[in-house]
Amino acid sequence: MKKLLSMLLALVLSLGLVACSNGGTAPEGNEGGEESSAEETTNEGGETYDVGVAIYQFNDNFMTLYRNEIESYFGSLNDGNTYNLKFVDGKNDMAEQSNQIDSFITEGMDVIILNLVQTSSADAIIDKIVAAGIPLVLINREPLGEDGDESYKGILDNPTVCYVGADARQSGTYQGEIVAELPDKGDINGDGKVSYVMIEGDPENVDAQYRTEYSIKALTDAGIEVEELDDQVGNWDQTKGQEIAANALSQYGDKVEVIFCNNDAMALGAAAAITAAGRKVGEDIYLLGVDALDECVEMVNNGTMTGTVLNDHIGQSHTAVDVAVKALKGEAIDNYYWVDYVKVTKN
Ligand code: GAL
Repeated sequence: MKKLLSMLLALVLSLGLVACSNGGTAPEGNEGGEESSAEETTNEGGETYDVGVAIYQFNDNFMTLYRNEIESYFGSLNDGNTYNLKFVDGKNDMAEQSNQIDSFITEGMDVIILNLVQTSSADAIIDKIVAAGIPLVLINREPLGEDGDESYKGILDNPTVCYVGADARQSGTYQGEIVAELPDKGDINGDGKVSYVMIEGDPENVDAQYRTEYSIKALTDAGIEVEELDDQVGNWDQTKGQEIAANALSQYGDKVEVIFCNNDAMALGAAAAITAAGRKVGEDIYLLGVDALDECVEMVNNGTMTGTVLNDHIGQSHTAVDVAVKALKGEAIDNYYWVDYVKVTKN
């Protein structure tokens, strides 16, 4: 009998230990890298919050850095609370992302951090999140108001909705300024004008629209004459950037003096095309990107890229998390939070 009792006790104790080690919630599956969840350290006495993070597409260099930093920053908060994070991949498909938001609502997320696939769907998505009483932090893809500025009603009229991002006009301006500050101001062949190729990100994104517009505006504002040889959409993608640059270089040859890319991934592709065409950055062509991926900062320093602009994923992700935590505590949040871009040239 005694033996039976001690066996029973051992069984009860071991079951108890299993229950404790699961913390009551089993981690979600991570099928094919499409979804991931991370449970942060539990501290006695704190609150437990479920945080849904919807990213437009995992397959994006910059948004991967941003996403990883959201996770590690939540993990470093150490504020006595437990944050159960669930990341979902929108796969650049708005219908898919809309379903993911429906699931977040059904699962009862306490806050949502959202990188929209399409800002044109912002109204519908925000409406359902607000109706469910869940605070929302929009990141990276800014929905603009009717005046094409920060007059967007989905944010201004909803005190629990905000946007955290960087002003894309600034990044475009910095790209143009980097060229205007070169000794030849980008006019390599001395014909009195800068002949350029523009490689754009997804044209639905304000980042692509503003970088395209403001990079050239910085040149013309500096009194520099410009000639657009080509302007193509590369959708933020390295392979497309390479294809577009290769075609432009074969079509326009030595006429191409500057290749502006709306991001570094496409600039990496363009760099490969430049090398394949037997051209040399800094000697017979200039190449600009945005994001300051480690690889590109290295290229700027060794001269294989003319310049890039730091898109501060650390500042943006930390701000997004801090604001999400504020909202979770029921504190008032602002409509907009801005993080500066920084010019990156050879040091
Ligand atoms: C931009 C970034 C791009 C891409 C895009 C996605 O801010 O520069 O590389 O990540 O966001 O919307």
